[in-house]
Amino acid sequence: MTDRTAIPPTAADAGLVDQLEAAWERSDRLFEAVGDAWLERPIPLRHPFLFYLGHLPAFGWNQVGRGVLGRGPVDAELDVLFERGIDPLDEDAAAEQSIGSWPTLERVFAYRDRVREALRAAVPDVRARAGEDALAEDLRIYAVVLEHEQMHHETLLYLIEELGAGKSSPPADRPELVTGPAPAPDRVAIPGGRAVIGADRERLSFGWDNEFPAREVDVAGFEIDRFPVTVAAYREFVEAGGYEDERWWTPEDVAWLREHGVRHPHRWRREGGAWIRRTTFGQVPLDRVGGWPVVVTCAEADAYARWAGARLPSEAELTLCAFGPGAERAFPWGAEWPELHHGNFGLKHFDPVPVDAHPAGASGRGVEDLVGNGWEWTTTEFGPYPGFEPWIRTYPGYSADFFDGAHRVLFGGAWGTDPRLLRRSFRNWFHRHYPWASTTFRLVRSG
Ligand code: AVJ
Ligand code: FE
Repeated sequence: MTDRTAIPPTAADAGLVDQLEAAWERSDRLFEAVGDAWLERPIPLRHPFLFYLGHLPAFGWNQVGRGVLGRGPVDAELDVLFERGIDPLDEDAAAEQSIGSWPTLERVFAYRDRVREALRAAVPDVRARAGEDALAEDLRIYAVVLEHEQMHHETLLYLIEELGAGKSSPPADRPELVTGPAPAPDRVAIPGGRAVIGADRERLSFGWDNEFPAREVDVAGFEIDRFPVTVAAYREFVEAGGYEDERWWTPEDVAWLREHGVRHPHRWRREGGAWIRRTTFGQVPLDRVGGWPVVVTCAEADAYARWAGARLPSEAELTLCAFGPGAERAFPWGAEWPELHHGNFGLKHFDPVPVDAHPAGASGRGVEDLVGNGWEWTTTEFGPYPGFEPWIRTYPGYSADFFDGAHRVLFGGAWGTDPRLLRRSFRNWFHRHYPWASTTFRLVRSG
């Protein structure tokens, strides 16, 4: 067995309710950036902003009040209307769900406030059930609500970006963009070893169903890029005609390129002779952000990798190079809880920063930017670990609804990711063609 003693048990259940209050404040600040665009639906597959205003509290009460405590509704109509809001099957389904009249903004704000009061008041009742219900133990159900809220901060961030600079209301105190050129490319050799994937139930008080159980995987040696693929590097692929050359794309991906007219990354556009990169609240000439990680879909990442004679890493390879082997670490840099000097997360910035901006976050092997600055695509299909159990009985479909072969595991974190979600076993996932999220990649070569 690999020595796992260096992985500290989390104290993440301490102060859960305070963390939830902080997450609510962040939600409120993000919703301020929506301005008065409540009924806009900038991503056709997603509901309008107003839905999310109701979805966050509805989820909270459905989990804690109805799910764990068996209580009645806060608002019988709104609890149901706002229950689910992700990944409708297609744009027609999304449009259908969004047709009709939404409740007024005032009613949804009032609903939000009533649910927050009810959730505060329910804490002692949940605590009282700790012995008889795993979801009440350590207030785990509040961790479900907290982390769901935090994940939707990222949803809101990319919805606001899609809304566009003309319609969104950027916060007055937002930080300036951090621009800069790409560092010289570099590769790191990772010797083969055993990667510890997932989490032990005894050592992690709260994790989602897809994080358990832990297991060990033998990984052969490989070489990995020190940094994610940059805008400057990816631009060479675009300008070499990479999107027009079918050699780099699977037939399915060629069909996707054609159907959506994709000729470059979603956030880029050509204006006159120059490339412009859209940002969360504005835009920047691409020339100034050559050092940012490129934000692309998995299909685009795969095509670039083929063109470069390399491939994407697996979840196990990234785990091995970030945390092990032997001296297993909680984070790439060691045991210290994530601080802002370790990487671009926690909404210190609203956009990427150059890939070499956080040397303090390097792994033991010197691989940089593994956590923050963009979720990294892997070759690993999103699926259950052996021994998977949908243990959150109030939300059995959290992961299982997406075990469909079309979703890939993403590693690390992005600028909008809360430090809480940077634990090593946390898994994100998106459809291979999902262009909206903060997703990047890096290359490996087999040793
Ligand atoms: C795990 C980030 C893919 O945003 O679609 C939110 C999280 N699940 N509400 C998503 C989620 C239910 C989910 N991701
Ligand atoms: Fe949700």
